[in-house]
Amino acid sequence: MDNRPIGVLDSGMGGLTAVRELLRVLPHEDIVYFGDTGRVPYGTRSAEIVTHYALQDINFLLGRQVKMVIAACGTVTTTLPDSLVRRFQFPYTGVLSPTVEAALAASRSRKIGVIATATTIRTGAYERELKKRDPEAEVISAACPLFVPLVENGFVERDNKVTRLVAEQYLAPLKEAGVDTLILGCTHYPVIAPLIGDVMGGKVALIDSGRAAADHARRLLAEENLLTDRKTAGKCSYFVSDAPEDFARNASIFLGEGFCGEVARIEITNYPDTI
Ligand code: DGL
Repeated sequence: MDNRPIGVLDSGMGGLTAVRELLRVLPHEDIVYFGDTGRVPYGTRSAEIVTHYALQDINFLLGRQVKMVIAACGTVTTTLPDSLVRRFQFPYTGVLSPTVEAALAASRSRKIGVIATATTIRTGAYERELKKRDPEAEVISAACPLFVPLVENGFVERDNKVTRLVAEQYLAPLKEAGVDTLILGCTHYPVIAPLIGDVMGGKVALIDSGRAAADHARRLLAEENLLTDRKTAGKCSYFVSDAPEDFARNASIFLGEGFCGEVARIEITNYPDTI
């Protein structure tokens, strides 16, 4: 048993897709969330910069005495070198392997689409992991760099004309290829899942990487005997590196009643980038 909070990080509000699931499956856990809103997006940056940012984010969370770290960010997950992750002295999960597992469980035709940030697609990590587990899988990938700024700016309603137009263009090759499963490999994308679903058509299974990571974290904490023994609702604390008001407004749209409304700004550049 461990009553310390779970730490969740992302470049902005995308990681709330993991928080939403954590609130559902682990309602008694405390959560500390960090969204690096002052430096979003990560998904257009080099591996060196993403690693530097991610280590500062992790050190912030460790300073809040978290019992595990969830990198609820596809870009961080696919960019952090394995050699570095192996050195972590705390329970950690990213989104890659739980998402791939969920996609393979959902797909019948083994024709799987992956959409993610440009940095994630460049790493080839989703394609590699899918093919490692199922060499027969056919993978069609597309970078969707405009989705993150659209989500961060609140262009998230199902009938938003701008986001719809962008989605139609990005998703056309995946539709044409006839994928039966689409991995939302950036945690921002599930925020606009209803719109993406409308564009792809009802038969395509959408795999939410934030949810997959949260479900995996729950299993990990249970296995390690690290779940809380409290029976009251957990507390969520949100931290960002830029204007808390913008984050609070958009987060409350997304999390609804799950959002407690307390957001504090911190100076993330003060944290070390070594582990
Ligand atoms: N949510 C992040 C991800 O999953 C967004 C990356 C970005 O900031 O571009 O990749």
